[in-house]
Amino acid sequence: MKTELALFDRALTLNRFPKRDNETLQAWDAGDEYLISYMEELNIEPGKHILILNDNFGALSCWFTHKYRVTMMSDSYIAHQGTIENIESNRCEEVTLSNTIANIPANVDYVLIQIPRNNRHLIWQLSQLRQALDSTVPVIAVNKAKDIHTSTLKLFEKYLGKTHTSLAWKKHRLVFSAADSSNTLVVEPVTQWKVEQYGFELNNLPNVYSGEKLDQGAHFILNYLPKGLTTERVIDLGCGNGVLSVKLGLDNPGVQITCVDESFMATDCAKSNLLNSLGVERNTKCITNNCLDGFEENSVELVLCNPPFHQQQAITDHIAWQMFCDAKHVLCNEGKLLVIGNRHLGYDVKLSKLFGKSKIKLIASNNKFVILQATK
Ligand SMILES: C[S@@+](CC[C@H](N)C(=O)[O-])C[C@H]1O[C@@H](n2cnc3c(N)ncnc32)[C@H](O)[C@@H]1O
Repeated sequence: MKTELALFDRALTLNRFPKRDNETLQAWDAGDEYLISYMEELNIEPGKHILILNDNFGALSCWFTHKYRVTMMSDSYIAHQGTIENIESNRCEEVTLSNTIANIPANVDYVLIQIPRNNRHLIWQLSQLRQALDSTVPVIAVNKAKDIHTSTLKLFEKYLGKTHTSLAWKKHRLVFSAADSSNTLVVEPVTQWKVEQYGFELNNLPNVYSGEKLDQGAHFILNYLPKGLTTERVIDLGCGNGVLSVKLGLDNPGVQITCVDESFMATDCAKSNLLNSLGVERNTKCITNNCLDGFEENSVELVLCNPPFHQQQAITDHIAWQMFCDAKHVLCNEGKLLVIGNRHLGYDVKLSKLFGKSKIKLIASNNKFVILQATK
């Protein structure tokens, strides 16, 4: 896998986070290269303040911190860690890191955006920029040309201001905009809806997974979460808004729940949802982390997991594998991992490899999903 980004007589060595021996995915894309080339040609005065939104693994931050003051905002813990590691290994200047629920910093001169996959997150970021920026500050966004639809440009026009695009280069396009729309539309960060069947409500921040309605897989597994547990310690791995934990906590008042997600907004939501549904006196924790890095071995009786199949923009099953390996590590003997996945993902094969075929039980299935239980 290529790890050297060489442009304009400069080279950076960039890795994804976590760094893996047989990595097949690159830590930057042609969109990063397009933004870098565009900005290098502009040749703006050193020392200006560049705000970068959604840098994937720190390629943009590393590049621009050489001459400019950089603030990088991202909802992803993985992106923060990737940026920190790449900044250190390339001996770059410091970058200020922030999440995307925080305020836009003051005195920004340029904004560079890797357009996020989730439109609610994009709308949130554009509306925040519209409220904070002076209309003279250039905003330059990038994405694959095939993912910049007319509707994407309409969101820029509506929530930020006048917008036009560049020609495509290596299948990517730049979007040029500025905070000059005639109306400043205020976007509420929290969307609230009810899980009707079970009567509890969920708060959803803009980048939380399935933030507008219950995920179909989550809906299916809610019926099959265990009841009658007593003092079990439980981890909800990849908790999103905490939907699985809220239901498990309501049915099992004695359990101790730890929600883990790599999205800062997800762990924020899970925290407020557990508090609202279970009350302050319950033993719950919400942690922003990469899978179960740093968690103690043999320390819990149950792990719940509805794994992701993306890392940043890439479709991959390596996070599911990492989650299963980490779950096995933290489970006590006889502890259980309960997994929901699309039938075609073949999680049974992965779990059999890890736990042994005889330790895998099919709990339920329908035409789309399977629920599997692996016992350590
Ligand atoms: C399919 S969603 C499941 C969300 C929720 N549990 C549900 O059932 O609706 C997967 C979740 O895993 C999280 N995730 C992705 N990569 C992760 C990682 N490396 N460590 C922890 N969580 C991760 C995503 O942010 C997302 O919230």
